[in-house]
Amino acid sequence: MKVVTLQQPKRIVFGAGSAPQAAEEVAAMGARRVLVVTSPPVLPAAKGLLEACAKAHLAVTVYGDIDREPTVAMFRRALEQAKAVKPQAVVGVGGGSALDVAKVVAALWDSRQDVTDAFGQDKLTGRATPLVCLPTTSGTGSEVSPNALLVDDADGRKKAVVSPHLVPDAVIVDPLLAVTMPPETTAATGMDALVHCIEAYANAHAHVAVDLYALEGVRLIAGNLARAVEHGDDVAARSAMSLGSLYGGLCQGPVNTAAVHALAYPLGEMYHVPHGLANAVLLAEVMEFNSPAAPQRYADVARALGAEVGRDDLETARAGIRAVRELSARCGVARRLGELGVPAEAITPMAEAAMKVTRLLVNNLRPVTQADAESIYRKAY
Ligand SMILES: [Fe+2]
Repeated sequence: MKVVTLQQPKRIVFGAGSAPQAAEEVAAMGARRVLVVTSPPVLPAAKGLLEACAKAHLAVTVYGDIDREPTVAMFRRALEQAKAVKPQAVVGVGGGSALDVAKVVAALWDSRQDVTDAFGQDKLTGRATPLVCLPTTSGTGSEVSPNALLVDDADGRKKAVVSPHLVPDAVIVDPLLAVTMPPETTAATGMDALVHCIEAYANAHAHVAVDLYALEGVRLIAGNLARAVEHGDDVAARSAMSLGSLYGGLCQGPVNTAAVHALAYPLGEMYHVPHGLANAVLLAEVMEFNSPAAPQRYADVARALGAEVGRDDLETARAGIRAVRELSARCGVARRLGELGVPAEAITPMAEAAMKVTRLLVNNLRPVTQADAESIYRKAY
């Protein structure tokens, strides 16, 4: 068995109604001055948490300007606010965008390191300020991952800070924070979580210690995403999605994602397609491309998706791809690239950009060439 390192938060609190517990977590860390980093649509959901902070006599400053996938410039504005507040703890409340900013702000507000020097693997020098994260979507898994993504204004590319210092000290996963999420966001973020689990299981660096989360995540998401999209107030479905997303996040440190994410990045960078939707439109096509290289892994994925078992692994894997297409259609994310405002002439430059995401492509079970990437985009067009 290969060596694997699992970096997880010291505390993971999971359950409906647990959000206000974040105030106790922060107080127990000895913090009084707290910076909450969040997004405008999330503020109503954070009400219970903010009330609990007031009750615990915490001095809270809310920075609520993370309104889209963050750029370095947006991050720097949040950083300026943090420098003014000098927080003793940073609390991120939101989807991946707000959580990613919160994570890097906590690490850098009192550091001499510039964020552009922290891009890459293990470049971040440290984090002194305690960090608590509360996800409000069921998708990115950012609440437990060592990753944070920012769009570099200089070249428009998504750059990742990857560091154990970005794994929060405590995570509170409260499915009730997700019940007001609109159906289309539920669908797109849920598909992102599904991709995290599938790409971690069908991965060149897959590990049995991670497979456990990946397959169970696939099962939870495949069994509950449509229900969460159609009945947003179904707490059982929301809870299953929150857990599936958490599992997807736990896969990201030790194994991480592969070609679906690498090919999805240019859609976000060049055409502002939301991350989850970009993954959703490419997932089945990448599974088609990959499955002949690893039929057994994709057959396992298919069984976890609830697909019919065929005569051999490849046939079962194909049933899994059909199950993904059906789920996408039911959730309203079975879209073509052309419908998302991507011109056909963009296929070659997008493939060139995807080929540069080597940190993820090395995880893919089948090598991806420029011609392969173009062919996958064309099939999804
Ligand atoms: Fe993702």
